[in-house]
Amino acid sequence: MTKYGRTLEIGPTDLTSEKRTPRKPLNMIPDEARASFVPYAPYTFNALPAEADMTRLAPGRPQADGEPIKITGRITDQYGRPIRRSLIEVWNANKYGRYTHIEDFSGLKLDPNFLGIGRMLTDDDGNYEFWTIRPGEYLAFPDISRWRPKHIHFSIRGGASRLITQMYFKDDPHNDRDPMRILMGDNFDANIGKEYEIEGDDFDCGYQFDIVIGGKNPTFFEDL
Ligand SMILES: [Fe+2]
Repeated sequence: MTKYGRTLEIGPTDLTSEKRTPRKPLNMIPDEARASFVPYAPYTFNALPAEADMTRLAPGRPQADGEPIKITGRITDQYGRPIRRSLIEVWNANKYGRYTHIEDFSGLKLDPNFLGIGRMLTDDDGNYEFWTIRPGEYLAFPDISRWRPKHIHFSIRGGASRLITQMYFKDDPHNDRDPMRILMGDNFDANIGKEYEIEGDDFDCGYQFDIVIGGKNPTFFEDL
């Protein structure tokens, strides 16, 4: 056993394992550095506009079942400065509570017209927008009858950093018993999309979900 680091139990035939074991104390990264967020996606990358419309597979294709809604928001740091060109990836269950994902074994109805995943970049003022179908709630833990309320998953990425959170809907009867909502405590309101009206017939309504990265009152993010 070396003084610092660890001895790898790889086997007698691996002659390099000792050399690759740290010889010096590990440097702990300060919290401030871990919380830092590199805000830029490369300027060579752009998401397609159609990737922000989860209500259909592609422009001109039939619309998925359920209520189409628009989600907008702004991503800032703790001082209100915009996080520009952050890559936002979103996904939510379809109207029936089922994900477009190979590991959703719920057996609930798949909607062949629902894209189910989307991505977009924030603009120069930190704003993003996308369109989806109001998600259904789903029974996540059948053995204890634990439902997940309606929610939309968000991944926010810049450089090598990735943060994961969820937007909730006010007045969902399953909100109060949701495990993640319980973890949020009094900060739960910050993760509720604020409803607003949209003129025109295309969308049921809009929700504003602003996200704050860093500082004393950041948006709740899940541990990866
Ligand atoms: Fe979910």
